[in-house]
Amino acid sequence: MNPPEVTPASSLIPRTVANSQSEMTELILPNDTNVLGNLLGGRLMHYIDMTGAMAAYRHARTYIVTAAMDHIDFIQPVHLGNLITLKSSVNRAFNTSMEVGVKVWAEDTQTGAQQHVASAFLVFVAINKEGRRVRVPEVIPETAEEQRHYADALLRREHRIAEATRRKQEKLAHAALEDAEAAEPPAQ
Ligand SMILES: CC(C)(COP(=O)(O)OP(=O)(O)OC[C@H]1O[C@@H](n2cnc3c(N)ncnc32)[C@H](O)[C@@H]1OP(=O)(O)O)[C@@H](O)C(=O)NCCC(=O)NCCS
Repeated sequence: MNPPEVTPASSLIPRTVANSQSEMTELILPNDTNVLGNLLGGRLMHYIDMTGAMAAYRHARTYIVTAAMDHIDFIQPVHLGNLITLKSSVNRAFNTSMEVGVKVWAEDTQTGAQQHVASAFLVFVAINKEGRRVRVPEVIPETAEEQRHYADALLRREHRIAEATRRKQEKLAHAALEDAEAAEPPAQ
């Protein structure tokens, strides 16, 4: 892990959640759907990634990459002809990474009825033009809901780090086992 590039202090002035709030609306057409006429999960993930990135750009004001899309709930199917609206904002910023929450609603164009259809959390990492990580400003949570998201984001980060450590140890143990098996003399 290389240390992040030093970011000028003027770029690290904390920003509110409202500063990063972003929104996107799409009309679901036949090319976006499966054989049952429902929105493809992969297409929805693309829209979620795009809307999440908009919030991350608005918060960090530098280049960003998606590091993880670690929690996504597909609650209801979205149908051909629906309008979907995605809303995103940065829940919390850490050193060079930010957790972004994205919520998706589907609207029936005939009745106007809206349904919450999906939610996701993504992590974006801020980088400079050369691809080196850069620090990001802190988030100021203002409302009670923003404060709850802010607190929960830290718990999710701890969970992510614990899970990454567990997977790394499992990989190392597996590699050690393979090495030991390879070193054993063949059975007579
Ligand atoms: C994401 C990436 C920049 C991380 O770089 P790295 O040097 O391996 O990461 P580090 O372990 O030093 O961690 C850097 C930060 O990223 C976070 N991070 C790294 N991997 C992560 C993951 N899988 N999930 C969540 N956060 C992650 C770390 O927690 C750390 O956050 P902090 O600076 O706020 O404390 C790098 O792995 C990468 O470029 N991945 C490819 C990204 C990409 O191509 N995305 C799709 C297209 S945009």
